[in-house]
Amino acid sequence: MRVIITGGAGFIGANLVHLLHRERPDWTILNIDALTYAGNLENLKELEESERYRFQQVDITDEEKVREVFAAFQPDAVMHLAAESHVDRSILDPMSFIRTNVLGTQILLNETRNLDKDVRFLHVSTDEVYGTLGATGYFTETTPYAPNSPYSASKAGSDFLVRAAFHTHGMDVVTTNCSNNYGPYQFPEKLIPLMISNAVEDKALPVYGDGMQVRDWLYVEDHCSAMLRVLEKGKAGETYNIGGNNERPNIEIVRAILSHLDKPDSLIRYVQDRPGHDRRYAIDASKIKNELGWEPSWTFEEALPKTINWYLDNRGWVERIQSGAYRDYYEEQYGKRLTD
Ligand code: NAD
Ligand code: DAU
Repeated sequence: MRVIITGGAGFIGANLVHLLHRERPDWTILNIDALTYAGNLENLKELEESERYRFQQVDITDEEKVREVFAAFQPDAVMHLAAESHVDRSILDPMSFIRTNVLGTQILLNETRNLDKDVRFLHVSTDEVYGTLGATGYFTETTPYAPNSPYSASKAGSDFLVRAAFHTHGMDVVTTNCSNNYGPYQFPEKLIPLMISNAVEDKALPVYGDGMQVRDWLYVEDHCSAMLRVLEKGKAGETYNIGGNNERPNIEIVRAILSHLDKPDSLIRYVQDRPGHDRRYAIDASKIKNELGWEPSWTFEEALPKTINWYLDNRGWVERIQSGAYRDYYEEQYGKRLTD
C-alpha cells in the first residue's frame, strides 16, 4: 500500500504519520507539505532514516507539482489533511484559507483522478462546518451545513467539492468531520497548548468572552485511528462524524490545566470574544461506531495530563516555535531555506 498524506508536518498529520508507520509496517508513506508556519519537520525527526517514509515540500495549490509527484509515486490512497486550520487567522486573512482549503482540495481531486487507477481519497474535515448549537442537540452526518467563520466556510466548500467528485466522477472518496483535537505537536496558537505554555511561563491566559463556549475534545491518537478505520472500511461517498463524547466549556479546560500545573486561577484573563464565535459543538458519533466499530480509546482524564506532560517534557519544541528557530530545521536537513 502506497499512501500520500497531505499536511503531514502539521499537528494531526504528524501524529497520523507516526501511527501509520507504527501500525502498518508494509505501507510506504509520502508526506507532502508546503511547510507553512504550521508545518514543522521536527515532528517527524524519528522517521528520517526510515525507508518506509518520505517527505517532499509541495504546495497543494501548485497543480503541476502535485501532478508530477502523484504520477511518480502512484499512490493507492490519499489522506488529505493539509489546510489552513486556525479560526482566528481566517478572520484576519481569509484568502490563504480559500486558496489551500478550497482550490488545493480540488487540485488534489483532479490529480488523483488523472492517475487513472483506483485510488481511495480520504478528506479530513471538521465539525465546524455544521455551525453552532444551543444548549442541546448534536451534529449528525445529515445536519445541514451552516459554517460561521471563513475557516469553516472554506472547509465546507472543500467538503462539497469532494462530494461532487463522488457524484459526478464516481471517485472513491470518504469524508470525516471531527471535533477538537488535543495532544502532542499542536501548534501553540490553539487553546490547549497556548494555555499550557502561558501557564508554565506565568503569563496571562486569554479566555475569549465568558469562557462558556463548549467543544467536544478528542485525543489526537483517537482521531488518527478513526481516520485509518474510515480509510480501510468506510463506504465510498459517505461521511463519518468523529467525536470524543467529551463536551467541556473552555473555562473548565483552562482551570484543569492550571490545577495540573499547580498555578493560580488569577492568571486567567477574560478578553474580547472572537467575532462570530460558535457557542457549542457536539458530535453524534454513532454512525462510525455502529457501521465501522470505532470508538475513542482515551478518556479526557487520562489524556489531558498526558498531553500537559508532553509539553512539559518538550519545552525545547515549544521554545523553538516561539523563537522561530523551528524554521531552521528544514535548512539543516535539506540545505536550502524555506521560502516563507
Ligand atoms: P495544522 O495547521 O497543525 O497543520 C496543517 C498542515 O498543512 C501544516 O503542516 C501546513 O504546513 C500544511 N499546509 C498548509 N497549507 C498547505 C498547502 N497549501 N500545501 C501543502 N501543505 C499545506 O492543522 P491540524 O490541526 O493538524 O489539522 C489538520 C486537518 O484536520 C485540517 O484539514 C483541519 O481542518 C482538520 N481538523 C483539525 C481539527 C483540530 O482540532 N486541529 C479538528 C478537526 C479537523
Ligand atoms: O472543532 C474542530 C476545530 O477545532 C478544527 O476544525 C480547527 O482546525 C481547530 O483549530 C479547532 O477550532 P477551535 O476554534 O475550536 O479551536 P481553538 O483552539 O482556536 O479554540 C478552542 C476554543 O477556545 C474556542 O472556543 C476559542 C477559545 N479560545 C481559543 C484561544 C486560542 C480562547 O478562549 N482563548 C484563546 O486564546
